[in-house]
Amino acid sequence: MVVRPAEATDLEAILAIYNEGIVDRIATLEEEPKDQDYIEAWFSVHQQRYRVLVADMAGDGVVGWVSLNPYSSRCAYAGVADLSVYVGRRWRGRGVGSALLKAIEPVAQAQGFYKIVLFTFPFNEAGQRLYRKQGYRTVGTFFQQGILDGQFVDVMAMEKLLSKD
Ligand SMILES: CC(C)(COP(=O)(O)OP(=O)(O)OC[C@H]1O[C@@H](n2cnc3c(N)ncnc32)[C@H](O)[C@@H]1OP(=O)(O)O)[C@@H](O)C(=O)NCCC(=O)NCCS
Repeated sequence: MVVRPAEATDLEAILAIYNEGIVDRIATLEEEPKDQDYIEAWFSVHQQRYRVLVADMAGDGVVGWVSLNPYSSRCAYAGVADLSVYVGRRWRGRGVGSALLKAIEPVAQAQGFYKIVLFTFPFNEAGQRLYRKQGYRTVGTFFQQGILDGQFVDVMAMEKLLSKD
């Protein structure tokens, strides 16, 4: 498996993996599957500092992706990036997410970010185990922060300061 920068030709696979995460109701407050127009627009704002990496498995193509996303439009937070990570259902639990999180750190630092934050559901145990193992700490839990299928859901904030060495 190689982890490499995403290209436009990866968008179909990125979209399919994202839509699995939406359907699984474990990763995002998004409820409706996204389409090609959506993912193209998303990719167009992920060309500069907010990079996307894919995990490319020999013979199977793209099996997961990670992205840096804008955290805040405030200048004071320009060094903080938000993170998303999605692994295709068939490939979860095989080290793909760990490889993606490791690979995005030097990319984030090279783009001038000193911290990565992320938001996850308290019931996303796989996500939390992955993040803790990669050195993320829990900041806290927002109660009733979002609505998913008509129900309030809590959202947990996690963060990692990126070391300079
Ligand atoms: C969360 C996710 C990105 C983890 O990626 P992954 O490739 O499955 O993770 P890894 O194989 O690198 O495993 C990392 C840790 O998570 C644990 N883990 C993976 N799948 C798990 C599961 N289903 N249940 C519990 N723990 C799990 C692993 O056991 C491992 O910890 P360990 O080495 O101590 O056992 C992946 O499961 C996924 O894409 N899920 C759906 C989308 C999602 O939830 N994204 C995150 C949104 S916040």
